[in-house]
Amino acid sequence: MNYRHAFHAGNHCDVLKHAALSIALARLKAKDKPFAVLDTHAGRGSYDLSGEEARRSGEHHGGVLRIYNESDAPRALQPYLLAVGACNPFGGALRWYPGSPLIIQSALRADDSAKFCELHPDERRRLQDAIGRDGRIKIFERDGYEAVRAFLPPKERRGLVLIDPPFEKPGEYERLAQALTDGMKRWASGAFMIWGPIKDDAGFGAFAQAAATIGRRHMLEAELSIGPRAAGELSGSRLVVINPPFGLAAGLAECLPYLSRKLAAARGGGWRVRETENGACAIDEGAAG
Ligand SMILES: C[S@@+](CC[C@H](N)C(=O)[O-])C[C@H]1O[C@@H](n2cnc3c(N)ncnc32)[C@H](O)[C@@H]1O
Repeated sequence: MNYRHAFHAGNHCDVLKHAALSIALARLKAKDKPFAVLDTHAGRGSYDLSGEEARRSGEHHGGVLRIYNESDAPRALQPYLLAVGACNPFGGALRWYPGSPLIIQSALRADDSAKFCELHPDERRRLQDAIGRDGRIKIFERDGYEAVRAFLPPKERRGLVLIDPPFEKPGEYERLAQALTDGMKRWASGAFMIWGPIKDDAGFGAFAQAAATIGRRHMLEAELSIGPRAAGELSGSRLVVINPPFGLAAGLAECLPYLSRKLAAARGGGWRVRETENGACAIDEGAAG
């Protein structure tokens, strides 16, 4: 396992994923009933943007730094911006970037719960430090795909699974599709959010088609590209959400035109939100302009 998310923390892919995650969590909180979250590939939870990895890659300059502390952000982006702001309580330049576990932790209420899986020992130790003592959260040294089989359905019966693999091993898309099939069998009403790169389109594009069959009743796809597609380059990223929480599509359609404008690296990028429910399909899309 060579992948280290610290090189990529706060880049345009994280902004899409974490903005969508924050909206989904806010929607889950709109009901009083407790919810559960499973984060299958959690990472270290908190990233120091002044640290060596982030300085070396500089990827956050094309991502979160372009939208943090801007006064014109749409309302639907506020849960995400608040989660980022909460990690930087002393103001000033943005230094600490929250990974998905911290964003989830900040959304949990007293009776909600979360499980985080992380296989890399050093990342997991850091995750433990970032989360601290929190009776609502359990951290596991466990394969995230296997956790989908082991931990679902949660006793709360409502909530979300985030699947955010590093895509560094062959066969990742097949494992993703299998995990989704297993997850849906165990928890047909759960929301499953899967992140993937727009890079090698045969990979995630083919997975998204498989996902449409697996989650056939209700599925959302969201895409944010910061430039034209180019072979071998990460020009954007994409989310597939099975059983999306009510309001997620509308929230994304509010955020993505703004994000696509702010994060554009070259002409030719754009955004898209596509929701399919019981055979009906609604598409919102636009070019970065
Ligand atoms: C893309 S990063 C996660 C980023 C995190 N979800 C976030 O948004 O902040 C993927 C993480 O998964 C871990 N990992 C790789 N394979 C795994 C597996 N099979 N099960 C659990 N964790 C795994 C890696 O060590 C890495 O920290």
